[in-house]
Amino acid sequence: MRTPLIAVTAVALAGLAVAQEDDVFAFIPDGGRTILERLHHQGIPGELAAAMASQQATVEEWKAQLSGAGLDQWDAATLAEYLEAYAPLDPGGDLPQDGRDLALANCQFCHIITVTVTQDRTREAWLGTLNSPSHVEIDLDQTERELLADYLVLNAGIPIDQIPPELRAGGASY
Ligand code: HEC
Repeated sequence: MRTPLIAVTAVALAGLAVAQEDDVFAFIPDGGRTILERLHHQGIPGELAAAMASQQATVEEWKAQLSGAGLDQWDAATLAEYLEAYAPLDPGGDLPQDGRDLALANCQFCHIITVTVTQDRTREAWLGTLNSPSHVEIDLDQTERELLADYLVLNAGIPIDQIPPELRAGGASY
């Protein structure tokens, strides 16, 4: 009966590798998907849950709706932008990728993530970067581009001393 043990060990090691890989990026703030999942597990107040499931609203309107949900201002702002992009949605369902997910999935092929998350830019400047010749071909639709820009306005501009050393060296390979 060796095989099952080896299989279990392999699964455990794969899980560990994933956990370690994730940790390197732990300094990058949560995006709306993660914040919403956390809120869902804590229990979303009925009125707010109903609004998420039925309404389309602006960032400001979502911020007002989220004010009693027990989130800090930063998380509330990040989640409000996510909801502006994707509500109505089922908060307990399979949620679309947030700005952090999009950055990790799309912004590491040609240079390390540090190039992105250390920049402090306006929404227009981020959309300009995403439409520049080096970036226009990246497979992101308009909703994703705007959500990513909104996420980065709030959550990028991370000081270099908060970046793990292995993500600092060289900065970029381009
Ligand atoms: C296909 C390769 C490629 C991918 C994928 C890529 N970049 Fe870049 N990026 C480049 C190149 C090449 C440069 C340097 C030349 C330039 O600035 O356009 C660069 C530079 C940058 C810079 C610094 C210079 C500037 O234009 O401000 C930022 C910020 C940046 N990228 C953000 C991003 C973000 C955000 C993503 C994910 C959506 C991303 N990159 C994904 C190729 C890429």
